[in-house]
Amino acid sequence: MNYAYTEEQQLIRETARDYARRNLIKDVLERDAKAIYPAKHVKNIAELGFFGMMIKPEYGGVDTDNISYALALEEISKVDSSVAVIMAVHNSLTSYGIQTYGNDAQKEQYLPSLASGEMIGAFLLSEPDAGSDASFQKTTAADKGDHYLVNGVKNWITSAQSGSIYLVMAQTWPEKGHKGINAFIVEKDTPGISIGPHEDKMGMRSSDTHSVMFNDVMIPKENRIGDDGFGFRFAMKLLEGGRIGIAAQALGIASGAYELSVKYARERKAFGTEIINHQAIAFKLADMATEIETARLMVLKAAWLKDQGKPHGTESAMAKLIATDVAMKTTTEAVQIHGGYGYVKEYHVERLMREAKLTQIYEGTSEIQKLIISRAIAKG
Ligand code: CAA
Repeated sequence: MNYAYTEEQQLIRETARDYARRNLIKDVLERDAKAIYPAKHVKNIAELGFFGMMIKPEYGGVDTDNISYALALEEISKVDSSVAVIMAVHNSLTSYGIQTYGNDAQKEQYLPSLASGEMIGAFLLSEPDAGSDASFQKTTAADKGDHYLVNGVKNWITSAQSGSIYLVMAQTWPEKGHKGINAFIVEKDTPGISIGPHEDKMGMRSSDTHSVMFNDVMIPKENRIGDDGFGFRFAMKLLEGGRIGIAAQALGIASGAYELSVKYARERKAFGTEIINHQAIAFKLADMATEIETARLMVLKAAWLKDQGKPHGTESAMAKLIATDVAMKTTTEAVQIHGGYGYVKEYHVERLMREAKLTQIYEGTSEIQKLIISRAIAKG
């Protein structure tokens, strides 16, 4: 077993860390307060190659391994999870989905602009009545011979407004249940698509989240991914990898809160000494450090399994479950360590706590991760 990162993995981590610490930090508070989309950062990060991590070089991507991807997301998330979630959905859902399951024409048409970041990807699975129960799709894609006619509503869509390439899941054959669901590549400016108001979120306020309405939207047949009825399995396969990204994001949120807490505890004095010398604080830091390392091992294992082409669905669910719980616990303790300062925006930890909460909800709630893990146990 080898725990050392390769030179390339270290370089990717350093590049992400450097960008986050030098640039994202400067305006993260303002973007959070005013819910401003990080357009400039998305462009800059794309120029560094971070939007082509799941795309092969022949389509303009950098095709890194999943460990590098997790390291990059962790570093970005230490400072700004809004940027990280845009990156995560774009890479491990939209780009990976087209790269892995698209046909040659689809890859040639869409991957180069996704790799360069000229087009940002979004993933449209959730609906008002289909969140955890993802196969209960009410959006329909009626088969009209040479095209599909799509009607319905998707919601909680990351990058709905700023993105331009949507992966849309919709029901074609309701009588077949999940086996009737199809997946399509849809360009945002297709006639009949309209976008709902910006969701005023508790955290990750700088990423854009909206509902998307489809009203008689004509999708050419060649935009369907895979065979007729492949859409639900496609979405599930993508989420197996996507959850590694969200677990890495949660790990970053936890690590960011931990690093700020150590710094604060070394500087802040109470009862005649720095508070890190008080066991009440020191033991909190010890728990944080231990739990973060435990989560890190699980994230890296899931990423490594995916890199080896081995099954990783259960491990990615475990990684997301543990890392997001560690993020929630660590950020809550970070606020506690900071005392009153932790409760104001300037010290960042209250924002990290708000960001942590979302990681326990999207790309499958913690309860859904337990369902996936327990079903795997029962199956043996
Ligand atoms: N890979 C391949 N196939 C899979 C699969 C996987 N990982 N998981 C399930 N399937 C297949 C099953 O084998 C089954 O096929 P058969 O009938 O042929 O055997 C079929 O799919 C149905 O599977 P289940 O019976 O397990 O389906 P279910 O209805 O019980 O649901 C679930 C399973 C895991 C709960 C699923 O609904 C789920 O993942 N829910 C959560 C949805 C989610 O994560 N949404 C995130 C939205 S995207 C987002 O958040 C992005 C963002 O913006 C940040």
